[in-house]
Amino acid sequence: MSKNFQARVITNSALNSKIYLLEIAPLEETTVPSPGQFYMIQPDSSFDPLLKRPFSYLRKKANRIQFLYAIRGKGTGLMKNFPQGKIINMTGPFGNGYPVHNDNRIPLLIAGGTGIASILSLYCELNKKYLIYGAKTRDELVLIDEIEKSGGEFFICTNDCSYGKKGMVDELLRDFISSHQDIISSVVIYACGPKPMLKSISKIASENNIKGFASLEENMACGFGACLGCAVKTKKGYQRVCKEGTVFPFAEIVW
Ligand SMILES: Cc1cc2nc3c(=O)[nH]c(=O)nc-3n(C[C@H](O)[C@H](O)[C@H](O)COP(=O)(O)OP(=O)(O)OC[C@H]3O[C@@H](n4cnc5c(N)ncnc54)[C@H](O)[C@@H]3O)c2cc1C
Ligand code: FES
Repeated sequence: MSKNFQARVITNSALNSKIYLLEIAPLEETTVPSPGQFYMIQPDSSFDPLLKRPFSYLRKKANRIQFLYAIRGKGTGLMKNFPQGKIINMTGPFGNGYPVHNDNRIPLLIAGGTGIASILSLYCELNKKYLIYGAKTRDELVLIDEIEKSGGEFFICTNDCSYGKKGMVDELLRDFISSHQDIISSVVIYACGPKPMLKSISKIASENNIKGFASLEENMACGFGACLGCAVKTKKGYQRVCKEGTVFPFAEIVW
């Protein structure tokens, strides 16, 4: 069950010029989120902008929840000024989360840009795992030390070669497939990032008979299934990203 609640801002700090880490403590008991779920956060108590903004939960610890957000427009521009101690309005958690299989499948997680928030929530909970993570530049890569501490094997790329391999995550996926032929039939992909990236990964996965899931990000007004604003075309008809998703099997999405 998800619901409206108030939360206190514990920290709200810049990780770089564009990306912030927000830690909040709900003022009441709330539903525990699972990896891949998201919350709607009210950017300002004056209700301008009116709509809450959707953010994947990054980590939960004790009664605190962390988010990673990039400054994009009016809402996130206001969020970066949340002072410590501010009381904010939120709703959640929403979404179906990543389906995790307790069998012999080997998870390969793929994140592009701020998709790392959603992906890291899953990565930290898995044992044997692989991660491919890409961003435009070194400055846009975040939480690398956390990734290193989480175990698992990871591969990083930047478009400008300022860190890791030069290129995009779909190129690293092709490299991964070539160099891990011995395990590839057991791999299942979980991906979050810009839609063109997800489309490309889904195509490569299909060509190589790899199953996978994509967490989609669409513009959202309500976040809980009422406005239909986030509907995407799937093989089962139009489905709401916030309600039936955000996570869909690659094979179900009409790209
Ligand atoms: C399920 C989900 C999880 C997300 N998780 C994260 C995250 O962990 N970290 C992060 O930095 N960003 C995340 N985003 C994107 C984030 O919601 C937008 O960057 C943010 O809403 C922009 O708000 P704004 O007011 O600053 O920008 P504006 O462009 O002024 O926003 C205008 C409207 O567009 C919507 N909107 C704009 N961009 C997006 C977008 N990319 N996706 C969805 N709605 C958008 C806003 O909700 C708002 O209604 C997520 C989006 C979704 C749908
Ligand atoms: S955002 Fe309203 S139905 Fe999904």
